[in-house]
Amino acid sequence: MTENRKIIIAVDGPAGSGKSSISKEVAKQLKLKYIDSGAVYRAITWYLLEKHDEIPAKHNLSDYLKDVFFDQVFNEDGTCSTFLNERDISNDIRTEVIAKNIGIVSDDISVRELVNSILRKWSEMYSVIMDGRDIGSVVFPDANIKIYLDASVDVRAVRRFEEYKETGKNVDIKDIKKQIALRDTQDMSRPFGKLERREDAIYIDTSEMKKEDVIRKVCSIIKDYSM
Ligand code: CDP
Repeated sequence: MTENRKIIIAVDGPAGSGKSSISKEVAKQLKLKYIDSGAVYRAITWYLLEKHDEIPAKHNLSDYLKDVFFDQVFNEDGTCSTFLNERDISNDIRTEVIAKNIGIVSDDISVRELVNSILRKWSEMYSVIMDGRDIGSVVFPDANIKIYLDASVDVRAVRRFEEYKETGKNVDIKDIKKQIALRDTQDMSRPFGKLERREDAIYIDTSEMKKEDVIRKVCSIIKDYSM
């Protein structure tokens, strides 16, 4: 696919809808570059917490990021690594503390502009599948294919709970559900770059679907487009 022409696939949806696991597998199968936009917001949150203990109560949080360099690598085994000033922080950014603090960081317009420019730069040379909240609406409004992945809050809470369990993290499912519902509200109501289901996006409700079926469906949408 990459030899022919460069295409951009935007995958948006709420927390736990399966965006990242589906996008990674599709990227692997169709030889696309996968870009995880949420990981950049997570990396920024991690950095600010490391430096300041709590997120500074200030607008223009990007002022704190002048000496920070981000990088992301989509590995051959289908994993994605995120680097901050050359340190691999891929595991550090998947914690509840980050999830609790990320809302305020992603509400900051200066942070959003910085992240958007990074994401566009990473996409310059490749056909990419990128997941997030505002990829099809703000980052790449002209994306070739836009997909909106959804699932009920209950299903998403169970998925996130299983993910934490697999990595040995001990969490309470009720807390996870509350956190997801709160993050939905934050993600859907921010003034810039909010999560919304746009008319030009293909809507897939994955609540009752097996992961393999979602992957198959997304692959077939992309193949149909590319033929
Ligand atoms: O995996 P999950 O859906 O929980 O989160 P993520 O994709 O890693 O994104 C984490 C958070 O980053 C989201 O809840 C948003 O607050 C923010 N985010 C954003 O504002 N815009 C994006 N394009 C991606 C993530």
